Amino acid sequence: MAVKIALLGFGTVASGLPFLIKENTNKIEKAAGSKIEIAKVLVRNNAEKQGLEEKGYDYHFVTSIEEILEDSEIDIVVELMGRIEPAKSFIISALNAGKHVVTANKDLIALHGKEIRELAEQLHLAFYYEAAVAGGIPILRTLANSFTSDKITRVLGVLNGTSNFMMTKMVEEGWSYEEALNKAQALGYAESDPTNDVEGIDAAYKVAILSQFAFGMTLDFNDVKHQGISSITPEDVLIAQKLGYVIKLVGSLEETKSGIAAGVMPTFIPQDHPLASVSGVMNAVFVESIGIGESMFYGPGAGQKPTATSVMADIIRISRRLKDNTIGKAFNEFKVETKLADKKDISSLYYLAIETSDEKGQLLRLTKIFNDQDVSLRQVLQDKAKDGRARVVTITHAVSEKQLDDLTQKISEEEGFQLLNRFKVLGD
Ligand code: NDP
Ligand code: HSE
Repeated sequence: MAVKIALLGFGTVASGLPFLIKENTNKIEKAAGSKIEIAKVLVRNNAEKQGLEEKGYDYHFVTSIEEILEDSEIDIVVELMGRIEPAKSFIISALNAGKHVVTANKDLIALHGKEIRELAEQLHLAFYYEAAVAGGIPILRTLANSFTSDKITRVLGVLNGTSNFMMTKMVEEGWSYEEALNKAQALGYAESDPTNDVEGIDAAYKVAILSQFAFGMTLDFNDVKHQGISSITPEDVLIAQKLGYVIKLVGSLEETKSGIAAGVMPTFIPQDHPLASVSGVMNAVFVESIGIGESMFYGPGAGQKPTATSVMADIIRISRRLKDNTIGKAFNEFKVETKLADKKDISSLYYLAIETSDEKGQLLRLTKIFNDQDVSLRQVLQDKAKDGRARVVTITHAVSEKQLDDLTQKISEEEGFQLLNRFKVLGD
């Protein structure tokens, strides 16, 4: 008997599933223990249905979710529409109708995952979402299974393919922001509204999800601070290169003595760090742990086939569990009480770019502010002044987030100084 699946939405990712099912029929059937059949596909309306039929797709297209919920032969509902509603209601209805659920929807999992996971557990149904973090990289199942005996202390990730692709093209090939974004959209990397990609929100969703698997802690999305790539200027990129760094949007999760610290921020990465070479649509998750030590998981973070491959992995896993009568186990069983780090305990090196008038004594005044806040400087550089304005950039030694907040507050209160940017710097 085939395992029957229903797809909700037939966009970039969903339309990659038929390719895998066709190319790997035998392998999939062996791993899943059954044939996998796309029994129904929910599309928006009859016009979309007709368009897809004209393109040669001969699936049973439906325009009402009820046709799927009421079909007792459908075992697994695969939600690939994106956004919160109606995806959330459809998933909850599917679980209540006794169907297992697979999704790639990180927005939904980061914002409402707890409620959905609890419902699935209560109903002994599977709710899997490997594709939600880092597209084609099988990171969630690796953390849930292969790191069981290890203790993770820090996770750093280049987690958004769109912004990494854009930064790479802009820095290495001189593309404009718009050109890079348009191409990322055309290649199917970007979300339907790319704001989430460029503003660090999509990466923050992934950090929130990674926290469950790496630290067993469910974070409220608001506990993940985020800043995107739109604040990075060409001057920042040049300074980074001059000082031996590359700038990337990095998501981080770190254990401190009071709890975990989570965030997404443009980050200066030393050129010899493994994350520095993660370019284009590639993502990477760099894990520090007491057992393995340092490990990095690298691969395409977006795109049709890579993402569809992760979705298929979940479908196959559920099918196998159905066959073996082991269905109902949670995707991730590691759960501990969530504890957030105190700002005093979160420490990093920082890059600060400050504009001031090009006058004698300004640098001295600035260093005095740093000194008064007990922040010591590792590097200081001044750009050539333009129009009577000078740009001073500093890299600090390690400071706590509390010290950094106090320092930036003082700089903003002091007349004649304007803080242009503050990014993290990887290093000791
Ligand atoms: P697309 O926008 O390409 O596809 C979504 C499809 O669902 C569209 O065809 C959309 O139609 C349709 N849809 C939306 N709402 C409904 C509805 N109510 N009824 C029927 N159809 C509907 O998105 P992707 O395939 O790129 O992404 C799907 C999911 O996968 C998202 O959650 C995304 O975040 C996630 N993801 C995507 C990756 C990627 O590389 N693309 C990588 C990892 C995860 P319409 O166009 O009319 O809105
Ligand atoms: N828009 C996302 C990205 C898709 O660019 O990384 C993968 O989650």
